[in-house]
Amino acid sequence: MRELRAVADEVGATLLFDGAHLAGLIAGHAWPNPLAEGAHLLTMSTYKSLGGPPSGLVLTNDADIAARLDAIAFPGLTANFDAAKAAKYYARIGSPAVAAKFVAEFRRVAERLVEYPSIGSRRSRGRRDISMSIFPYTVIYRTSGDTMLVLVVKHDSRRPNYGGSRK
Ligand SMILES: Cc1ncc(COP(=O)(O)O)c(C=O)c1O
Repeated sequence: MRELRAVADEVGATLLFDGAHLAGLIAGHAWPNPLAEGAHLLTMSTYKSLGGPPSGLVLTNDADIAARLDAIAFPGLTANFDAAKAAKYYARIGSPAVAAKFVAEFRRVAERLVEYPSIGSRRSRGRRDISMSIFPYTVIYRTSGDTMLVLVVKHDSRRPNYGGSRK
């Protein structure tokens, strides 16, 4: 790792260690911590050797990289993930047909928002929200010029400020 880091520094590259299969060994100190060994970034799956729910982690010790990651991942990728997680949840506790119904309902709301961007109720900080029917979810979004950004797809029993820090 240290040799690779030296090469990365020489050419101005960022060194990422893919720990998808090694996360458990790293957490258990049976494999050196790549961040301590020189990697800028460490990625991992949460559901393989960590045995958790399907998700992923991107770790870094570098404040600048963390800020850049935050800007990309929240809310851009996160709101997508909210909806995907909800569908997955319904497939697990219900059936693939229930998950498909969730996706269809989500699509209906998305199409409505495209047609009528200001249909959602006003919230603070320029946000608006619209409830899904059938499923207890609320879509929180904001518009700017002709761009719309979905910030959160929130289960209604989540704490009220869930996703509040997403910009
Ligand atoms: C080496 C490696 N990295 C990353 C991934 C992606 O992991 P995930 O399934 O969490 O997206 C995989 C998946 O098998 C993998 O084998």
